[in-house]
Amino acid sequence: MSTKRLTINYEEFASPAEMSPEDQALIAACLEAQKGSYSPYSRFRVGAALKLENGVVIKGANQENVAYPSGLCAERTAMFAAGANYPDVAFDTLAVAGSDKGVLCESPASPCGACRQVMAEYQKKQGKPFKIILVGSKRIRKFHKVDDVLPFIFDSLKMEE
Ligand code: THU
Repeated sequence: MSTKRLTINYEEFASPAEMSPEDQALIAACLEAQKGSYSPYSRFRVGAALKLENGVVIKGANQENVAYPSGLCAERTAMFAAGANYPDVAFDTLAVAGSDKGVLCESPASPCGACRQVMAEYQKKQGKPFKIILVGSKRIRKFHKVDDVLPFIFDSLKMEE
């Protein structure tokens, strides 16, 4: 037996002002995207803004349903819209922000496991990493690849195309 340690890497910023103009613009877009949230059950509004390599920004927001599992997280609405509308364009950066009853969370809302798995799929599909920015009012976290939000990515099925 041997004990191992796994390290993930990310950057933490106190505010968007510390970040590049491109990242600031994407953060503004994900905050704006929260307006599209349909969340009468949780009152938790999540916005996502996914910048593609061609510069297009796709917005997403969580969509809830009285039959709970029928809803979808903000991240997946954005990624699936991008996959459906721009199937051949790689993801560059996905920014996400969540607000609880109208107040942006101090610590960033963290994507659920299912959304991380979907991120992993698109990263594998495009064959190169994309970035993830998680936005809170007190701190913003930036990850440079999906592996840093989903260690030990499931990858045993080889894609054949
Ligand atoms: N939600 C997201 O859209 N993204 C996340 O990263 C976390 C959770 C949604 C799902 C549900 O509509 C609401 O937030 C409360 O869990």
